[in-house]
Amino acid sequence: MLERTLAILKPDCLRKHLVGEVIGRTEKAGFNIIAMSVVKLTHQAAREFYAVHKARPFYDDLVQYMSSGNCIPIVLEKENAVEDFREFIGATDPKEAQEGTIRKLFAASKQENVVHGSDSRGTAQWEISFFFSRELIETE
Ligand code: CMP
Repeated sequence: MLERTLAILKPDCLRKHLVGEVIGRTEKAGFNIIAMSVVKLTHQAAREFYAVHKARPFYDDLVQYMSSGNCIPIVLEKENAVEDFREFIGATDPKEAQEGTIRKLFAASKQENVVHGSDSRGTAQWEISFFFSRELIETE
């Protein structure tokens, strides 16, 4: 089924000048880019985006980190996009990520792990609408 997912290129991706590399690999893996922008999240916006993790010990650091520099949210479309993108980027911890995945290749740590990918179809819809309004992108 044709699906959409939300990727975010995180501040470490931009700082290390890996944007072209990651987007190039993403396109070669068959994902179509539907919408993309450059944003600097406010502390409050990062808190809201990651609210699902607010009880976790890493939450404050994660919020601090995600608001520390520019990010690039990207709406991607492909058959089975949500699951396939998670597989493409690899496990949260780069030490556990499969060979050839984005995080195995480029991530420094669990926090500085280059890219985010939605973890379900429902989450993807919520995350896409967090960054992109219906007026800006055509909906299915
Ligand atoms: P992401 O896919 O953006 O979703 C939640 C983020 O929290 C995750 O990537 C990591 O950057 C971060 N994260 C998850 N687990 C840990 C952890 N154990 N320590 C630090 N950061 C974590």
